Amino acid sequence: MKSDPVIITIDGPAGSGKSTIGKLVAEELDYLYFDTGVMYRAVAFAAISTGINTRDEESVSHLAEVVGIDLKPPTVKDGRDNDVLLDDKDVTWEIRSPSVDANVSIVAAYPEVRRALGEKQRQIGLQGKVVMVGRDIGTVILPEADLKIYLDASIEERANRRYQELINRGEEVEYESILSTLRERDRIDSTREIAPLKPAGDAVVVDTDRLNIQEVFTKVLEIIKGHRAK
Ligand code: DC
Repeated sequence: MKSDPVIITIDGPAGSGKSTIGKLVAEELDYLYFDTGVMYRAVAFAAISTGINTRDEESVSHLAEVVGIDLKPPTVKDGRDNDVLLDDKDVTWEIRSPSVDANVSIVAAYPEVRRALGEKQRQIGLQGKVVMVGRDIGTVILPEADLKIYLDASIEERANRRYQELINRGEEVEYESILSTLRERDRIDSTREIAPLKPAGDAVVVDTDRLNIQEVFTKVLEIIKGHRAK
C-alpha cells in the first residue's frame, strides 16, 4: 500500500480545468497548490507594461532572468488564489487580461525564459506535498512525480469555459475572439521545440468534455485513491 503521492502534476491545455482541479486537490490533501502558468503570465505582463515587444526574444529572456516573481497567500478576498507579486507590485488580475492571454505563449516558447522559470518551479516541486499545474510539469519539470494527470477537453468547451470566467469577472469579451486566441495558443504551446504541451508517457489522461468540475474532481480523487492502493 503506497502513501499519498507527494508530488502530483496536472498538465493540459488552456481552459482544461487544471487550475480549478489543482486547487481542489491541493485543499483536499493539504498540499501546496502551485500554478506555473502564473510565472509565464507575469513575464508577459512585465514585458507589455515596460514597452518590451514580446517578439524581442533577447529582451524578454533577460527580463525573465531579472524580474522578481513571487506568489504569496491571498491578502484580498476577491476570488484570488494567491497574491501574484511582480517586483513587489500586486499584479494578480493584470496577468489575466486578454492582452496577456494573447502574448503569453510567445514568451513561454523562449528557451531562456523556460530555463529561468523552470529552475524555480523544480526547486519548489521537489519540496514535496505539492500539486503543480502547467504544460510540461510531468514531462520536463518533475519527471519523477509520483502521480501525473493530464486534463483534456475540446477547444469549443474550453473557449466556452474561459468566456464564462471572463464574463463573470465583468470583462467585455467575445466568444469568437476567445476561441481564436485559444486556437493560436494551442498551436504555439503544442508545436514549440522546447517542452511542447503533451501528456507524459506515464500520465493518466482525463477527458473533461461534458463533465462539470465536481465530476472531474471525483474522477481525479479516484485516480489518487487508485494510486494509493497500488
Ligand atoms: O495555464 P495558463 O493559461 O495560465 O498558462 C499561460 C501560458 O503559459 C500558456 O499559454 C502556456 C504557458 N505555460 C507553459 O508553457 N508551461 C507551463 N508549465 C505553464 C504555462
